[in-house]
Amino acid sequence: MAPLRPDLHGVPETLLWTLHHRALEARRPDAVLHDPWAVELVARLDYPFAERFGTGGHGVAQGQALRAAAFDRAIRAFLAERSGATVVALGEGLETQFERVDDGRVRWLGVDLPEVVALRRALLPDGPRHRSWAGSALEAGWMDEVDPGADVLVTAQGLLMYLRLEEVHALVEWLAERFPGGALLFDAVPRWFSARTLRGRMRTPQGYVAPPMPWGLDVGELAAFRAAHPGLREVRRVALPPGRGLLFRRLLPVAARLPVVRDLRPAILLATFAPRPS
Ligand SMILES: C[S@@+](CC[C@H](N)C(=O)[O-])C[C@H]1O[C@@H](n2cnc3c(N)ncnc32)[C@H](O)[C@@H]1O
Repeated sequence: MAPLRPDLHGVPETLLWTLHHRALEARRPDAVLHDPWAVELVARLDYPFAERFGTGGHGVAQGQALRAAAFDRAIRAFLAERSGATVVALGEGLETQFERVDDGRVRWLGVDLPEVVALRRALLPDGPRHRSWAGSALEAGWMDEVDPGADVLVTAQGLLMYLRLEEVHALVEWLAERFPGGALLFDAVPRWFSARTLRGRMRTPQGYVAPPMPWGLDVGELAAFRAAHPGLREVRRVALPPGRGLLFRRLLPVAARLPVVRDLRPAILLATFAPRPS
């Protein structure tokens, strides 16, 4: 089969960044993430991954893979508690999380922009328990695809930072209202990082410039974030699994507990929605 040449720009192109780094990590014998599907997808794409994004050095690949592994772990825990639940992956890109966490019962809906879903379907056709919906996560249409009686975990891995504050706020409130008793698993970049992207200052040595990430949230602001969203019952941090080497095995777990230092790093968060009033 001839390789597919993706025609993605701006935020949609960032899905190739995360895919590339997961695949780089998954190729290692001591990988922190088992993801042969990512390796295969990269091989099926005609795209200059290394020239554009580099080769994952300085812990970049491992960091991306650990983030995905942390999401996987939280999703598996949700599915273990609520067997047969539905996962809605907003901004799914070319994630292969369904393949990694499938317990044989989960129902999965991926949501992404039309050009991304077209590419995804060409590489990973929908299946009986994994469907995709083409459109913005901010449009209501995808919600009609979810069984109203289902237990729902919404994930937004690498998505909310690309939205504006008022869009994040509206989305969180809307999800809480629509899926009472469910949860939202998402990640957030700290404010300093968001500010740098807005100035076009997050640039790789290869010259790739990360798109603007208007929404930033510091870990120190979690209580205020919860208070600003009446539909949330609780917001808690999700730890990264331990990785390889001094930084990922020893330093980051300690840094995650230190105020100030913890605000320097992106955070993974699990927000639970208040149950339906009886
Ligand atoms: C950094 S990538 C993350 C992809 C995937 N979740 C991962 O972790 O590999 C950001 C993704 O968000 C998608 N995206 C951006 N804005 C979106 C929107 N309004 N609705 C749905 N998806 C969106 C992009 O197309 C892209 O696939």
